[in-house]
Amino acid sequence: MLAFYLDYDGQNGQQQLAQKVAEQMNAAGVPNKVEMAEFEHRCFPDGETYFRINSGVKDQDVFVVCQLHHPNHKTIDLMYLSETLKQLGARSVGLIAPYLAYMRQDKQFHDGECITSRHFSRWISERFDWLVTIDPHLHRYHSLDEIYSIPSRVIHATGVIAEFLKSHVNNPLVIGPDAESEQWANAVAADAGCDAIVLEKIRSGDRDVEVSLPQLSDYPNHQPVLVDDIISTGKTMIKAAENILQLSGKETLCLGVHAVFAPGAVEDMKQAPISDVVTCNCIEHDTNGMDVSGLIASATLDLLKTENIGTEQGAEK
Ligand code: R5P
Repeated sequence: MLAFYLDYDGQNGQQQLAQKVAEQMNAAGVPNKVEMAEFEHRCFPDGETYFRINSGVKDQDVFVVCQLHHPNHKTIDLMYLSETLKQLGARSVGLIAPYLAYMRQDKQFHDGECITSRHFSRWISERFDWLVTIDPHLHRYHSLDEIYSIPSRVIHATGVIAEFLKSHVNNPLVIGPDAESEQWANAVAADAGCDAIVLEKIRSGDRDVEVSLPQLSDYPNHQPVLVDDIISTGKTMIKAAENILQLSGKETLCLGVHAVFAPGAVEDMKQAPISDVVTCNCIEHDTNGMDVSGLIASATLDLLKTENIGTEQGAEK
């Protein structure tokens, strides 16, 4: 089995993640050892994509690791890569997308809007044989199966976040900044053995949010910890942290699964009453401090076993 990865802008976070996942799958005894693929991937000066696959992929099961924030040019590259791998005879091509894009536009909020989640999921499903991802933004969709027609595994980073809390924070109080965060705020708190409260959020624009005041009177000696799936503009975390400061006089620790960080977000968060920001390594970022590679390796192994991919029997299909 061969592991590909797509890194951009001189970063190598996806290569490192792919290597860690491969090592852990091999250590767990995957039937066909995972090796790092050899390939060239670059942009011509005019912005067009160049790929050359140097590893032999004929009759091989392969996967691609690609973080999908700022997804538009990555989507085109994924299309070229999956189609090239299939054209060269790869038996199956999987996608490990630690951050899955285009999950938030899940309905027409206004007449004429494009429901991008539906088109994106169809493009991916047509070109990949399976999908593994971490905490996709499932809000109005309850399962990836509602829009993805390929086998998938959804991993939750709650256990990794809870471990971080247990080893780094004394007496934490987990705070979810909006109703959507209730699922993981409660799960993190249960795993970490602490309490959670959930706030209400009203968003009136991409960078305009209001967050309700937390009830902190029962937690005078606790360290407030905001937990959210995505940090994009950072405004959700900033507004909640300002409210927490107002009520408790304390700075807040912010934990996020996906370090999307829109332009200006890091700078804005530095001005806010936030003691630290720590994220999972789904998306490579300076704030990464929680490792999800073990979770990805076990979910991928489970999917491959269930779907009979990468085994001798799978090869005979
Ligand atoms: C949305 O509901 C998500 O769970 C996050 O709360 C949101 O994406 C954060 O966005 P921002 O950092 O732009 O406030």
